Amino acid sequence: MLSVSALGLYEAEINGKPVGDEVFAPGWTDYNRRVQYQIHDVTDLLQSGENVLGAILGDGWYCGHVAWQDRQIYGRKPWFLAQLRIRMKDGSLLKVSTDGTWKTMPGPILESDLVMGEMYDARLELGNWSFPGYESGEWRNVVTENPPKIGGLVPRTGPPVRRIQEREPVEIRTLPDGERSRKLIIDFGQNFSGRVRIRVKARCGTTLCLRYAEVLDAAGNLYTENLRGARATDYFTCSGRGLEIWEPRFTFHGFRYLEVVGLADEDDFEATGIVLHSDMAVTGSFRCSHPLLNRLQSNILWGQRSNFLEVPTDCPQRDERLGWTGDAQVFIRTAAFNMNVGGFFKKWMGDLRDAQRPSGAVPVVAPMPGFFRHIPHEDGGPAWSDAMIICPWTIYLCTGDIQILRDNYAAMKAYMDFMARHRCLDFIRSHPAVDEWGGFGDWLALDGSGRLDGNTPKDLIGTAFYAHDAALMGRMASVLGETADAAGFEKLRKQIEEAFQRRFLSPEGLLTGRTQTACVLALHFGLVPEESRAACVQELVKLVEQSDYHLATGFVGTPYILDVLSDNGRLDIAYRLLEQESSPSWLFPVKNGATTIWERWNGWSAEKGFEDKSMNSFNHYAYGAVGAWMYGAVAGLNPDPEEPGYRHIVFRPRPGGSMTWAEATLETPYGLAGIHWDLMDGMLNLLLDVPEGTRATLLPPEGYGEGKKELPPGRHSITLRGVPEARSQTRKREKAHVLL
Ligand code: BGC
Repeated sequence: MLSVSALGLYEAEINGKPVGDEVFAPGWTDYNRRVQYQIHDVTDLLQSGENVLGAILGDGWYCGHVAWQDRQIYGRKPWFLAQLRIRMKDGSLLKVSTDGTWKTMPGPILESDLVMGEMYDARLELGNWSFPGYESGEWRNVVTENPPKIGGLVPRTGPPVRRIQEREPVEIRTLPDGERSRKLIIDFGQNFSGRVRIRVKARCGTTLCLRYAEVLDAAGNLYTENLRGARATDYFTCSGRGLEIWEPRFTFHGFRYLEVVGLADEDDFEATGIVLHSDMAVTGSFRCSHPLLNRLQSNILWGQRSNFLEVPTDCPQRDERLGWTGDAQVFIRTAAFNMNVGGFFKKWMGDLRDAQRPSGAVPVVAPMPGFFRHIPHEDGGPAWSDAMIICPWTIYLCTGDIQILRDNYAAMKAYMDFMARHRCLDFIRSHPAVDEWGGFGDWLALDGSGRLDGNTPKDLIGTAFYAHDAALMGRMASVLGETADAAGFEKLRKQIEEAFQRRFLSPEGLLTGRTQTACVLALHFGLVPEESRAACVQELVKLVEQSDYHLATGFVGTPYILDVLSDNGRLDIAYRLLEQESSPSWLFPVKNGATTIWERWNGWSAEKGFEDKSMNSFNHYAYGAVGAWMYGAVAGLNPDPEEPGYRHIVFRPRPGGSMTWAEATLETPYGLAGIHWDLMDGMLNLLLDVPEGTRATLLPPEGYGEGKKELPPGRHSITLRGVPEARSQTRKREKAHVLL
């Protein structure tokens, strides 16, 4: 067994063969607190006689660039640690560990950096360095003195990053580039995270420059301004020894397009895209009768693939790639439909606990690199730091794994204490008198404010999320049998609700902060008294109408707006927003060729071109949070908080808009659950799969059927007749669909 770790990144080899297939091991944690290690069974790689064990090291997060900062934020250079334990045939144990007898030598990688790229000179390759019989005469002794102080070694808990897919180019443009040389622009047809493997045959000393971009500018060249300080460039210098195959080891880029410069006209060149992300099974599928929504689902999934790379990042391309707490919280519900994210979030919750401040505050990002301690964001503020509560709850809801609640309960309580002691005045969180900053607001809402953080009052957002946290804590405490805590959190929830109503509801029951997001949060988190609900829904509808059926919500309101409308009798408006094609809407980017989710509703427009280059990623998952509504309402597949992990499934399809059929499947912990529905001649035909060991309830849409049905495991084919009004809607819908 080989136990192995590094500060920086390692790829270990034994007798000329790679150990395992992980990429970017040992992964990213706050190295001052925890360093992950891996254990590999390497029996098959060993032989009798001489064996060679070694590793190639790269800078990675430990000493390369992280975000927009300089290099070396954790340490100055990579370190390597390994122990090989061999049980011999006679039962004795032989241990080989890293120590001062090991040898080292610089190799062909001249530079490697996650954000900047990799530079490789094949003329400097070391030959069969990890094969027995290699002459290592010139190699130097390794340094073992003064190892850096680090946190404890822990086994890896989350899924490793791997090479998940290969993609061939869909288009290659060849352009002249000076005399007798050419430039290529290669389109992989999909924005993704990863890198390329190249095959090249060129003269010794030829250097190829490989640049990456998500989009092209109007002239058809790479648009790289939105990458900010990320160089996102690899260099490969040929040895001239015939066909050379190369893939960088210690970098990745967020890109769809590759530009290759440096090829002579006669050189051979090919590139294959290598998709990298944390290796999680795709567990969900969603399809429906609306082609653009199917593309949207694909874009959401690719946003997840691109950003679930060791930690949930905001974006994979520019000099950022941080585990922003808000983004993760916003998207986790959708993420848990698309993939098995249990292990991934178990690991990230460890990062979040490491990042938690002694005060209990939960910061803006996790892992939290030191440079963040100097900006005033030790408390991530509403909707960001609440990831501490929302993420464990969501994983429990979607997987039934109670352990995630146990692991995080103390940290969650410390966070609730922090808010009560430091962030609230009379149960109002982010009260301007105690919290000048108040958080990121409804980040990137196009609500007419012209501000990045939108118009929704920050204390309204703060208090709404505080109430939500208290409600979830009450539930989690009772799941864990902490009955006294549960009662305490329920009481707190009530106190926050009353404070919210005192501060934000006017006598007519309307909110003082009149934005779509304000109404959405108040309604979704149950903060509007029964007698005022209708007025608040009406207010929201009015605001949506005023914006001509466009979204004015940012990161905070967007995930819930369709739930609020469909749960309050306005399914029609929810569909109008979902099917809206002009900006701001989910389908505007789709109509304009997006293959992932844009950071901003207006990332690009025909009138203005690209939005402000300082913050304009085309691969942010946050607005993909609508995916949960597509699974849960359009198709109608839902978990039940009372019996989490889909032990009890709630089928609740909500046909509407132009939709004539939809379907979703989900690999639950018990097996495959699925729903397919279609509307035909006034009938709703349903096909439902209920896995063994579970049960389901079907709640028919309004106008169909005689009420709910309880379903045992198995496949169920059910037809429901619509009332005349629903039937006429069906016909209208079918016509609309044909027109599309
Ligand atoms: C990130 C976001 C993040 C935000 C915080 C941005 O730079 O890309 O997704 O949540 O900052 O305001």
